Amino acid sequence: MKLNENVKIIGRKVLLIPYEEKHVEKYHNWMKSAELQILTASEPLSLEEEYAMQKSWRNDEDKCTFLILSKETFDTTNDELKSLIGDTNLFLQYEDDQNEKVAECEIMIAEKEYRRKKLGWESMLLMLKYGQCILNLNKFVAKINENNENSIYMFKKMNFNEISRSEIFHEVTLERKVDETWTTWLDSQVDLQIESYK
Ligand SMILES: CC(C)(COP(=O)(O)OP(=O)(O)OC[C@H]1O[C@@H](n2cnc3c(N)ncnc32)[C@H](O)[C@@H]1OP(=O)(O)O)[C@@H](O)C(=O)NCCC(=O)NCCS
Repeated sequence: MKLNENVKIIGRKVLLIPYEEKHVEKYHNWMKSAELQILTASEPLSLEEEYAMQKSWRNDEDKCTFLILSKETFDTTNDELKSLIGDTNLFLQYEDDQNEKVAECEIMIAEKEYRRKKLGWESMLLMLKYGQCILNLNKFVAKINENNENSIYMFKKMNFNEISRSEIFHEVTLERKVDETWTTWLDSQVDLQIESYK
């Protein structure tokens, strides 16, 4: 979507920035990894398809994406590409019957040496906060490969509830309604600080 094309979110350990053409090559190299393809349920794309995908993330109003930078690495190198470690996405959809705005959420810390340092945790929570405050979403859904226990643990720890398991897709679906109890918890974890990108 265009709404966040100039938005930079400042966290304690991460910076979230818009996905631009200059980032595509590094992103494309990550996604050659068979492990990441399985964990994120992604199909491999050619470099041209990845450029088209970046444009679609920028232009389609039902897609919101941010790239994740390690704040520590960026503060010491001032190098955006060196600091780039992953991404987080929201796919927006409506549930007509309840007039709810729902989004499927995704997170990836592609660079292994940056995993297990609470960077995925903070990035996902900042994205959820952005979804709640700026996109006015009412519900979040996470669909995770049943073997991806780390990610399932993480979403359960974020107070998502498991609602189904698909034996066909080998996938677990978890969801979280945006209610007062949960937003109070979310506010205790992250503070949405927005600056202009560029
Ligand atoms: C899953 C992923 C996003 C977690 O991000 P991370 O920065 O590595 O993990 P964090 O340090 O933020 O951990 C957050 C929580 O996730 C869970 N978790 C993450 N890695 C874990 C591991 N190796 N073992 C057990 N639990 C783990 C824990 O609940 C953890 O909370 P805790 O540290 O208080 O126990 C990251 O490992 C990743 O991107 N993996 C590859 C792609 C992927 O699986 N994406 C998710 C698809 S939906």
